[in-house]
Amino acid sequence: MGNHLLAAHHDLISRVAEALRRAHHVAVLTGAGVSAESGVPTFRDAQTGLWARYSPEELATPQAFERTPHLVWAWYRWRRDRIRRAVPNSAHRALVEVEHRAPRFTLITQNVDGLHHRAGSRRVIELHGNIMRTKCSREGIIVHTWDEPEDDAPPMCPRCGAYLRPDVVWFGEMLPQEALRAALEAATSADLFFVVGTSAVVQPAASLPVEAARHGATVVEVNVEPTPVTRLAHYVLTGPAGTVLPALVRAAWPTP
Ligand code: OAD
Repeated sequence: MGNHLLAAHHDLISRVAEALRRAHHVAVLTGAGVSAESGVPTFRDAQTGLWARYSPEELATPQAFERTPHLVWAWYRWRRDRIRRAVPNSAHRALVEVEHRAPRFTLITQNVDGLHHRAGSRRVIELHGNIMRTKCSREGIIVHTWDEPEDDAPPMCPRCGAYLRPDVVWFGEMLPQEALRAALEAATSADLFFVVGTSAVVQPAASLPVEAARHGATVVEVNVEPTPVTRLAHYVLTGPAGTVLPALVRAAWPTP
């Protein structure tokens, strides 16, 4: 979204900025779209290159890892490489600014890339784990490796010899319960709830904006296209998060 589009959004941005300035508890749910402008591929936009022929559902499951551990490990290694080379973008940085300004702020992310932390966000609820951490596929114990092996074979657990796997939530697995509890508490107590760069189709994260709205929060969606959240959002800001979020922060707290 260029400046002309921001100008078209001007009235909307002013109104959301006013809500942002007045809010007591701002909660934000982010998805892969917030890291898209850092060059980290999203899940449901067309995958490129080598991985274009697989859907995430074919790779991000315990069954896929059992069947084809080398393939799944190689996919994660490729994603870790991309993430290591990525840098946080202006959307991540705008959320750091909101954390500094809001009386209470909760950042909930479905992303496993750690870019919110690297941007400077202090407290981040990681609903789907973190791709840089590794755990034993048998016992679930976190194992700090690393020298990442050059080939596609997953490394072995030093305790039991089972394959190590990334500490991320796969389809069909439970979310970390404490993270989910904290996210739900935030959704039900926030007065302003942003949904940024997520297709909002993966549960239970997708139900957080619904819960927020049910408990009286004003819901604001920031995305480049409509999602299931669009219907229930009080405000919809259509455009890249890296443009919309900084514009909102500037409008809410203008610097002299
Ligand atoms: P998706 O890939 O499903 O959705 C990305 C969303 O970001 C889409 O709605 C895009 O329209 C939007 N988008 C793309 N570029 C954007 C930009 N510059 N600014 C704003 N929005 C943009 O990713 P998620 O919703 O995060 O789970 O996917 C949810 C979960 O499904 C992931 O955490 C992952 C995946 O399977 C697990 O790995 C458990």
